[in-house]
Amino acid sequence: MGKFFITTPIYYVNDVPHIGHAYTTAAADVLARFHRQLGDDVFFLTGTDEHGNKVEQAAVERGLTPWQHADEMVVKFKEVAEKVNATNDFFIRTTDPQHEAYVQAFLQKVYDRGDIYENTYTGLYCSACEAYYTEDNLVDGLCPDHGTPPVHMEEKNYFFKLSAYQDRLARHYKEHPDFIQPRHRYNEALSFIEQGLADISISRATLKWGIPVPWDESQVVYVWVDALINYPSALSYARDEDLTSRFWPPSCHLMAQDILKFHGIIWPALLMSAGYELPEHLFIHGYLKLGGEKISKTRGNVMDPFPLIEQYGADPFRFYCLREVSFGQDGVVGEDGFKSRYNAELANELGNLLSRTVSMVSKYRDAAVPAPSGPAEASPLAAEAAAAIDVAYASLQDFNLSGGLEGIWTFVRRLNRFVEERAPWKQAKAGENVALNDTLWNLAEGLRLLAVLLHAYMPSTSEAILERLSIESGTTTVKWDQARWGLLEPGTVLMVGPPLFPRIEV
Ligand code: MSP
Repeated sequence: MGKFFITTPIYYVNDVPHIGHAYTTAAADVLARFHRQLGDDVFFLTGTDEHGNKVEQAAVERGLTPWQHADEMVVKFKEVAEKVNATNDFFIRTTDPQHEAYVQAFLQKVYDRGDIYENTYTGLYCSACEAYYTEDNLVDGLCPDHGTPPVHMEEKNYFFKLSAYQDRLARHYKEHPDFIQPRHRYNEALSFIEQGLADISISRATLKWGIPVPWDESQVVYVWVDALINYPSALSYARDEDLTSRFWPPSCHLMAQDILKFHGIIWPALLMSAGYELPEHLFIHGYLKLGGEKISKTRGNVMDPFPLIEQYGADPFRFYCLREVSFGQDGVVGEDGFKSRYNAELANELGNLLSRTVSMVSKYRDAAVPAPSGPAEASPLAAEAAAAIDVAYASLQDFNLSGGLEGIWTFVRRLNRFVEERAPWKQAKAGENVALNDTLWNLAEGLRLLAVLLHAYMPSTSEAILERLSIESGTTTVKWDQARWGLLEPGTVLMVGPPLFPRIEV
């Protein structure tokens, strides 16, 4: 048993959440649930990033104070976590007074170490990114990520000596080749480091909506520095006791590529300066795209996940996003794709498998699962079940969420082929009782195993399958040690119920 501390980015409250935020939170939840299945001590953190220029601007546009605006928006972000059925252990807001005090103490350590100095910043700023740019970084004079013009800024700022950490960062990357995954993101961040790092401004003189710099209250802390510090800060006050020694360092910071540089370069350097251990892994998933473009408010092509989730439930949503898009790569999503995958795989493949199995056991064996014809290891499905377990385990350990689901689905399809091969209705007609018993036990056991393997991805579905198998759902029945072929007791009574995934009429 180990510990597993997983984080999502803390989302900006300048606007309402969209499917991209729901995706990261759902993916983090799959990993948190999987590690709980393993028996690990898990802490799953998410939250909101509430300071900075763009949140202040959004509030002004709405005629509200930043406080009022943030208080309203945070409700919607908490709702996303709830709607996707996330089991986050805490929800941090950067406006929490404990966080503000933590940021000041953290930054004071960096200052006392001699890593902060005063200088004048002259340059460009994109408030949608909350990031500083040089002319070279722009595309046709516009922000490469948002396609909007950055503004010219000139002010007295405090700077962090990022350049002084270049060699240590590069060394850390070389010594920890899986620090950032997938590999191409590691290469991208390392090559950025090797091109040379400039010091960065970590305060703002003109902005009011932020945390005061502890040694100069006329300035506020740069929103990114404030935000990154949420990870250790949350551990210090999420519970009555300080959880830092129990959970630090993070096992995995999960995010998309838009914020790789902040997490892969600035964050580890700040941690080194303040004397913290570095995160074990950063996993960079891809962008969900609608019509080929990244979904973003600035680009005006947002997709609201709520209607889909409200209509079909969190499980189909989680399943669709994690199955449709290879985890770690960009992928196109949309309502049509959702419906066709739902019908093909959830309604036809998984849902049908369950209802056919339950109805055949009811019809032929009075709902009680009969005994197999030999030892479980001798089952024609044993090897493929073991393969599905291995693939799911290895993939989930490796943050390969779509790979794990693929391994599980290979087994779903195998079970459906098994029904066709064995044709239990023919076995019944021919009075092949031993063979029919064997078929029915294998199918019921296959479903039990699927409930364990699918728990992290589709928790309610897993629970519903277990209920049909009269297996009490709960943490013990979905523990990873139950992911073994052959555990279903003959005599188990199956329950008939409505279809798990009623077909969507297209
Ligand atoms: N506030 C910062 C993060 C600070 S973390 C210390 C921020 N917020 S954000 O609201 O813009 O969220 C960015 C993150 O949201 C991405 O890294 C990703 O996790 C998620 N996504 C936003 N749009 C997305 C897609 N279109 N597709 C996939 N994920 C998306 O950056």
